[in-house]
Amino acid sequence: TELSKIRNFSIIAHIDHGKSTLADRLIQRTGGLSDREMSAQVLDNMDIEKERGITIKAQTVRLEWKGHILNLMDTPGHVDFAYEVSRSLAACEGALLVVDAAQGVEAQTLANVYQSIEHDHEIIPVINKIDLPSAEPEKVKNEIEEIIGIDASNAVLASAKSGIGIEEILDAVVERIPAPKGDADAPLKAMLVDSWYDPYLGVVILVRVIDGTIKKGQQIKFMAAGTTHLVDRVGAFTPKIEQLPDLGPGEIGFITAQIKEVAQARVGDTLTDAKRPALEPLPGFKEVQSVVFCGLFPVDANDFEKLRESISKLRLNDASFSFEMETSAALGFGFRCGFLGLLHLEIIQERLMREYDLDLITTAPSVVYQIELTHGGGHIELHNPADMPDPNKIESIAEPWIQAVIYVPDEYLGSVLKLCQDRRGIQKNLTYVGGRAQATYELPLNEVVFDFYDRLKSLSKGYASFDYEQIGYREGDLVKMGILVNEEPVDALSMIVHRSTAEVRGRGMVERLKELIPRHLFKIPIQAAIGGKVIARETISAMRKDVTAKCYGGDATRKRKLLEKQKKGKAKMREYGSVSIPQEAFIAALRMG
Ligand code: GTP
Repeated sequence: TELSKIRNFSIIAHIDHGKSTLADRLIQRTGGLSDREMSAQVLDNMDIEKERGITIKAQTVRLEWKGHILNLMDTPGHVDFAYEVSRSLAACEGALLVVDAAQGVEAQTLANVYQSIEHDHEIIPVINKIDLPSAEPEKVKNEIEEIIGIDASNAVLASAKSGIGIEEILDAVVERIPAPKGDADAPLKAMLVDSWYDPYLGVVILVRVIDGTIKKGQQIKFMAAGTTHLVDRVGAFTPKIEQLPDLGPGEIGFITAQIKEVAQARVGDTLTDAKRPALEPLPGFKEVQSVVFCGLFPVDANDFEKLRESISKLRLNDASFSFEMETSAALGFGFRCGFLGLLHLEIIQERLMREYDLDLITTAPSVVYQIELTHGGGHIELHNPADMPDPNKIESIAEPWIQAVIYVPDEYLGSVLKLCQDRRGIQKNLTYVGGRAQATYELPLNEVVFDFYDRLKSLSKGYASFDYEQIGYREGDLVKMGILVNEEPVDALSMIVHRSTAEVRGRGMVERLKELIPRHLFKIPIQAAIGGKVIARETISAMRKDVTAKCYGGDATRKRKLLEKQKKGKAKMREYGSVSIPQEAFIAALRMG
């Protein structure tokens, strides 16, 4: 295709502002699918994405509009997938900025739109949901200009739901977004934007060609990985799979090349011709690194092999999570897994439970600590609180910090600031725009991974939004807090905490466990301890004859459904010495009240 006839764009939107609905409309209007073929939401193609309404994997659709090829890239909408977003944006020349006409600009929108501006994108503001009675398009236009600083006078007013403004959006894409540049005669240079495993096609690779041409039968080389592969299919999604003879400069499409695992096709890598390679790879490749770790153990020890197989299968399609075998005195054989963030952890855990029908125990999520040992004992990266060295062998411990931007209506600001303060946050900035506050905090990631996001949402009635980036490691007075039930350590519940918050955390934990562990025929002490020193203690009194089974208090979080499903099954218990701890107690205990 001629360069001048190509437009590559993405859609930036806060969760729920209508990105998927709009994408569906664009596909429908350009005739990519008949009405009958339009399933509820085409771009979100995984069940979990549909149910949670969250886009995880970037997908691209090739649309035709008035003699032009429009490549629409869907980008993930959550902070955990920031790198995938950045690669998708790098593959485009423009973006639709979708803002809900009733909700206005939110923190997530800001982070993505700034990235888009950094990529020199032409940004077309789209004010969506103008059909709503509460829509205030003029106010939102002002917000876009004031907060983001881009011209919103020619924003398109739209309703993805009622089909208003769809043609205007398509025309604006053609008229306002610049055509890509590229050299057809130069050696092949293409960016690997995304890769995923498809049961029929094998590993599918989404590419944006910068220079040269990629075709079937070509030997290509992955410049970062250093591997070569034979291209066996080239095509695009319209959104149906359509094979093409080749992809030229400026084009976005897919290839397959008999690759077995997505781990071999890393997002951000540069593809070139094996015989006539480009001199330099494209900038911006980075290995994705896990930031949150936890242990996953089967409730039934006999399920270990099944868990291994299921995890391996999931990994086929998600190179961004890692796993290795782990043994625990209390939980037996399982896996230590690494994730991009908490949401990523929950998605994987949920898929294992749902798609593979496994009952799992998840240990306390942990970040990665950098530890210097005394007497030149060297350096370790700690992924698992259970491996914490003896305190007197530790010279120093450093923990990862983040900078978080929180966007919240005034009335909830007080509680949000308190939450940040309680989590050792350092306020960096606080500004007000149109009745809303924007607070910038530095926070230890360790204080955020447990339930920060849930707390933020609940204390702001869902109105606060949150975005973060990592800003490096800082030393801290960190200690391992262990939990003992009936004098037995429960390693799955041990965690690394800051000394200043240890007591509060410890007390919260033993109080919750007291509620969660059913009574036995004898008294059960529950203790939180640092080293040999007990910092909090509760006792579950012995059962009297007439006491009925404890029921576990509802936990109104995203975990609710999960817990219900587990509760339906047989009451699963873990034996600790002579004490049985119900499986739900583990998850519930880890959520701070
Ligand atoms: P994520 O995939 O989670 O990022 O969300 P999204 O931005 O893709 O939002 P989605 O398209 O799933 O829409 C969120 C909700 O808003 C859905 O319930 C839609 O039906 C609704 N919605 C989308 N567009 C409109 C619109 O123009 N008007 C109204 N009233 N509702 C809309």
